[in-house]
Amino acid sequence: MSPPSVLARAPAKINLALHVGPVRGDGYHELATVYEAIDVYDEVRATPRNDPAVSVETVDPAGWPVVGVGADADHLAVRAAAALRRQCGVETGVHLHVRKDIPVAAGLAGGSADAAAALVACAALWGLGLDRPELLDVAAGLGSDVPFALVGGTAVGTGRGERVQPLPAAPATTWVLVTSTPGLSTPAVYARTDSMRAGHDLPAAGFDGETPAGDVLLADLLAAVRSGDADRIATGLHNDLQPAATRLRPGLAGVLAAGRAAGALAGLVSGSGPSLLLLVRGDAHAAAVATAVTSAATGALAGVRVRTVHGTGTGAAVVDDPPARLGGG
Ligand code: C5P
Repeated sequence: MSPPSVLARAPAKINLALHVGPVRGDGYHELATVYEAIDVYDEVRATPRNDPAVSVETVDPAGWPVVGVGADADHLAVRAAAALRRQCGVETGVHLHVRKDIPVAAGLAGGSADAAAALVACAALWGLGLDRPELLDVAAGLGSDVPFALVGGTAVGTGRGERVQPLPAAPATTWVLVTSTPGLSTPAVYARTDSMRAGHDLPAAGFDGETPAGDVLLADLLAAVRSGDADRIATGLHNDLQPAATRLRPGLAGVLAAGRAAGALAGLVSGSGPSLLLLVRGDAHAAAVATAVTSAATGALAGVRVRTVHGTGTGAAVVDDPPARLGGG
């Protein structure tokens, strides 16, 4: 009989606000951010192996191998499965088949989505029965954005981003997402941000993990998110990494300007870039803006893809339950 397998998926994230504090002793930056999950997903199918190894294969939605993700031991999905095995004393190995729709090194936390989907798939495959806090703990050890990829929806992130407080209100946002290649290195964008802000006073007082909802930096945006009003959300969007990302990839600024000229409510760089987000009123508005920015983007950037995406309430979850059986067994 073919072995059982478990399929899970996890969403990409965007940051409606990303306030970056001073660099900490451990090299990370203290953040105050509002995450939103969008309806672009990576899927991970976990299948038991006959040996104790953890292996991975990564393909795009058309089934072609994806370049630019880490080799086996560096792949975040592999690190997630390995961490779970260690934590729970699991002895069997697992093969992870990752289907990536989230572009690599794009500022959309695709690697974190792979890790979160792998955690959920392996926990189900191995029948670990972990509760959410235990899974969030493992997730935080894997990367700053992994806990949010588990939770999804809309959430405040503090600490280095790993302390996540879900928000009850998930506004029905629609965005034109402009992705391009090559990716940008997240550490390089943070480092450039530090050098561009050297000597400036940073609002460290706002980075209070205990009372993030009252955080002065996020207050306006959180009120806008509660209202669900796209015009108010547009005025609250903010990304401290944007100046560095647009410096490192000069073509981005012109595409943002083209989006605003085409009637988008607002535009910003997604996380550490180079993906761009244009907030629109709905799908019809998105289609009009997408047409206008496509020509600007293809003139200024390489590997351009323009698509309409939406905020989503989902986080990482098993897709087919009970587990599917491969090979018709
Ligand atoms: O946590 P993660 O591995 O995703 O972070 C990748 C890199 O991004 C870190 O090595 C660091 O350079 C940068 N980073 C940061 N401050 C954060 C999150 C990430 O400096 N809060």
